[in-house]
Amino acid sequence: MTASAPLIRVAAPAKVNLTLHVTGKRDDGYHLLDSLVVFAGVFDRVTVEPADSLSLTVIGPQAIGLGAVPPQDNIVLKAAQALAAATGTTTGAKITLEKALPVAGGIGGGSADAAATLRALMALWDVTLPREALMALATGLGADVPVCLRGRPADMSGIGEQLRDAVPLPGCWLVLVNPGAQLSTPSVFRARSGAFSAAMPLETPPRDLDDLVTGLKTRRNDLTAAAISLAPEVGLCLAALTAQPGCRLSRMSGSGATCWGLFATEYDARTAARALRQQQPGWWIEPAPVLPASADPFALAAEP
Ligand code: C5P
Repeated sequence: MTASAPLIRVAAPAKVNLTLHVTGKRDDGYHLLDSLVVFAGVFDRVTVEPADSLSLTVIGPQAIGLGAVPPQDNIVLKAAQALAAATGTTTGAKITLEKALPVAGGIGGGSADAAATLRALMALWDVTLPREALMALATGLGADVPVCLRGRPADMSGIGEQLRDAVPLPGCWLVLVNPGAQLSTPSVFRARSGAFSAAMPLETPPRDLDDLVTGLKTRRNDLTAAAISLAPEVGLCLAALTAQPGCRLSRMSGSGATCWGLFATEYDARTAARALRQQQPGWWIEPAPVLPASADPFALAAEP
């Protein structure tokens, strides 16, 4: 009897920007950010199995959103190729990406998938890189990949590569809402106007949810107006979330179009999600807890 081949499955949670300030611009065109990033309990999943060469199959409810992206251009394969090159790995892997998060939606999508791929393949190939080299490889794949690889609530600065643990946050729930609009990140940054913001990281741990909401209310997502100018539905999402009983605050994540509403309890979040689905059956609507900080930033993301 042959031993069954190892199969490694890593969850890629949604990345959510609770704040996003654009604080400057580099000479290469990348923007400098100040962002409080958390992860929510709704996931893509990356599965890897031994194989002679690298291949990618995309399945799941949002796979269709990747229809326009040839597999060889998928960030998952780019991550696999970059890790193989950096570690001198010559074996391959059969990679399956189960896509549940909306594509080009401002909640990590591709970046979370790339980070999960790196974690899964390091385990499959039994390879590792020094932390600095791994973070540099991640940054080369995309500005949001380092924070996804770290997988813990973070204060993010630089273009996304400077990360430190966020202050401890109270437990809470989000309702994530995407109106079906795909927004290209460069287009949203290009459409942004106005002065740069000052960085405003949360320096003191909020005492409770009220305190967190008070802190978030004085901060914002600087890309919101630009995203609404390209996809007016983003404004509808924010209004629909704000109108839900129990919604303490709503904002856009990343460069959009996904927005979040913040709720104290799972019950409030699920009730709001049900009501929103009735109003907007075509929208992607998911209630999810904000995930607590994992003990080991480089541990494989736990299955929910
Ligand atoms: O690094 P990533 O591929 O996610 O970025 C896509 C594009 O988004 C960049 O080419 C740039 O136009 C814009 N961007 C930016 N500043 C950031 C992140 C992204 O201007 N910090």
